[in-house]
Amino acid sequence: MQTSTAQVRQDPSRYRVLTGDRPTGPLHLGHYFGTLQNRVELQQLGVELFLVIPDYQALTDRDTADRPAELAEEIVLDYLAAGVDPEHATIFTHSAVPALNQLLLPFLSLVSVAELHRNPTVKDEIAHSRQSSVSGLMLTYPVHQAADILFCKANLVPVGQDQLPHLETARTIARRFNDRYGAAVFPTPEALLSAAPMLLGTDGGKMSKSRGNAITLGADEDRTARLIRGAKTDTERRIGYDPEQRPEVSNLVLLAALCEGRSPQEVAEEVGDGGSAALKRRATEAVNEYFRPIRTRRAELAADRSHLRAVLRAGNERANAEADATLAEVREVMGMR
Ligand code: TRP
Repeated sequence: MQTSTAQVRQDPSRYRVLTGDRPTGPLHLGHYFGTLQNRVELQQLGVELFLVIPDYQALTDRDTADRPAELAEEIVLDYLAAGVDPEHATIFTHSAVPALNQLLLPFLSLVSVAELHRNPTVKDEIAHSRQSSVSGLMLTYPVHQAADILFCKANLVPVGQDQLPHLETARTIARRFNDRYGAAVFPTPEALLSAAPMLLGTDGGKMSKSRGNAITLGADEDRTARLIRGAKTDTERRIGYDPEQRPEVSNLVLLAALCEGRSPQEVAEEVGDGGSAALKRRATEAVNEYFRPIRTRRAELAADRSHLRAVLRAGNERANAEADATLAEVREVMGMR
């Protein structure tokens, strides 16, 4: 059920990609090296790209649910700055695509409550949620996510490990729908996992906006320097790359290596006996150097909100055309015409 980038390269025209990011704040370097860079590569290969900004899904997170339009624009800004070309990619918010959301109803009929309760990613989110009770949306958003993927009949979904249970839900729903209504309406989408090792935050935990340990795409050079200067390291003078034994030091080595396009081993070797201070200087310089053009573009784009809105409007229009056609087909095979 997994496809590799090498397979895609052999025949890019076979694939339609859908993926997206919850609009819960600005995207960070973990997003960039984990998936954004890869999307731009897919786009350059000529793969058709759909990028959903799942604003309804973000309602599962109470902290960010109060300024959805603003957060969606920030995501568009990060996408465009990273190199997504709106001429070749359809960027849309799913709240603006009614027919996509309507697919949720037949899809919900195809999964059991027990299955919804078994999803390990949802279980984890419930365990870490600060909310006093579990909402119906929390339990069903993976089905909504199946609609995000299937409304445009995407067959390839670039995601991180944590999203694999959701992709399994989408695959199950696609198969069950086709079986129940005896029609090959939906493809069975496959995951495209990132080859890059995961970047940690500056405290050694998962890089996350809400933990204050993330270097965002749009951070300026001073802020980047400050965050890296404050990053957790260890006291061993000799720098090495050993993610198991020395996760924090190795993470800074990895960050510098990703930005420089070198191997982590090479970078560690070169910093050698320079200790944490030299490693931090190197990582700061590498990040600021690599992201300078992206940040310049981001600042230019940020100054023109009407352009951002026009990009979203055009994406929403294209997504609506797809969703309307798929919903019509779904209702037809269900006998609802
Ligand atoms: N759940 C994803 C996240 O938290 C966002 C998302 C919503 C998504 N719909 C999707 C990802 C469909 C891939 C495909 O980042």
